[in-house]
Amino acid sequence: MTEPAKGLFIRTHGCQMNVYDSERMTDILRPLGYRAVDTPEAADLVILNTCHIREKATEKVFSELGVLKRLKDEAGGKMRIAVAGCVAQAEGEEIMRRQPAVDIVVGPQSYHRLPELIAQVSRQTGDRLATDFDVVDKFDALAIDREVDGPSAFLSIQEGCDKFCTFCVVPYTRGPEYARSAVEIIDEAKALVDRGVREIVLLGQNVNAWRGAAPDGGGEWELGALIARLSQLGGLERIRYTTSHPRDMTDDLIFAHRDVAKLAPYLHLPVQSGSDRILKAMNRGHDAKRYLTIIETARKHRPDLAVASDFIVGFPGETEADFEATLALVREVRFASAFAFKYSPRPGTPAASLPGAVPDAEKDERLQRLQAEIGRGQQAFNSATVGRVLRVIFGRPGRRPGQALGYSPYLQPVHVDDAASWIGRSADVEIRSATQSSLSGEIRAHAELRT
Ligand code: 5AD
Ligand code: SF4
Repeated sequence: MTEPAKGLFIRTHGCQMNVYDSERMTDILRPLGYRAVDTPEAADLVILNTCHIREKATEKVFSELGVLKRLKDEAGGKMRIAVAGCVAQAEGEEIMRRQPAVDIVVGPQSYHRLPELIAQVSRQTGDRLATDFDVVDKFDALAIDREVDGPSAFLSIQEGCDKFCTFCVVPYTRGPEYARSAVEIIDEAKALVDRGVREIVLLGQNVNAWRGAAPDGGGEWELGALIARLSQLGGLERIRYTTSHPRDMTDDLIFAHRDVAKLAPYLHLPVQSGSDRILKAMNRGHDAKRYLTIIETARKHRPDLAVASDFIVGFPGETEADFEATLALVREVRFASAFAFKYSPRPGTPAASLPGAVPDAEKDERLQRLQAEIGRGQQAFNSATVGRVLRVIFGRPGRRPGQALGYSPYLQPVHVDDAASWIGRSADVEIRSATQSSLSGEIRAHAELRT
């Protein structure tokens, strides 16, 4: 007997891992009759999938919960509210205390327990808070059908982090590093490709720390070998992976960029700072020179590689000279894109108690200068693709009627007019113009023009 349909609304904050988790929560709740709806008003269950990485993200959760409480009251209390993700993990009890309208709190390693938690809320028995770290159970529970939406899909292969960068909450909210087995990953990838997926994005907090037993008993694989195996899936066009740590960057993975045609020429490798003193205080485990050597080696084997990164400005004790070392690194690497953040002290992390806080105005000023430098690199990278023909996988409509939006192998957004029929497919596109943030072009379907 099927259950009557119930409305499910999930709002996702933060990283791609959370996007993946939200999709899987939808999959887990489908057998209980939950179907995605477009607004929280139409939902029987609203899940906030939260991010704890910076302060603003956490405060947003409490203000959103205030809004949801009003909706719940208007619905006569019928609506259920769940908080998932990293704020749930870090501040579960605080959330329950500060916002009694919250029915369920579920951490990132426990959302497979959602059906049980929902039942307990209905029966008004048992726990309403699940924040254990049983990541193995989680992935076992995920061995259910996935619904795919569009030509690109995330596949989580690794979770957690043992690196303990002094500014970061992830090791505390996502727990220790855990790698899914190669067999499980290959099976999930096959199922995705069978459903028409053309691009798979392998996800992990430290995705290049992934290691696993080879399925045929032939020793241990690292990420490069897994990617090579996945590339054999017919119908799959492109593979990406994100996010990587410089300490886990191996030659094998770099060689995969040379040898595996389906692996996108794109490397997101956060460096955070260009100053050795700050890198040390951050406990990154590498200096600027090591980072530059990795990039140089990778470009030797894959000259067109697009390199992206993350930066933090205003880490405690950061001087103008430290910051200029960051600018110098940005100029040297010529990033295709990069994210820059103002340092935000996170409770419980070692950096939160370091002296030398940088005033906010100074952080703002450094952020602007860094973003301007990053922007120049991005514009140069994008402009250099004008005139080339790039393979674009189209996932959704653009803003203009009839326009399609897709991504190039270098993860540049590409807009094409009069191309709505290409959505869900890939095509060769001649790039006609470039801005700092995106490209425009025209379909060139001729196979001989393919790059
Ligand atoms: N403050 C500012 N930015 C941070 N990040 C992680 N922790 C903090 C923090 N406390 C940034 C890093 C990381 C990205 C996901 O978020 O740059 O790579
Ligand atoms: Fe956080 Fe550092 Fe781990 Fe990345 S490597 S998740 S920044 S602790």
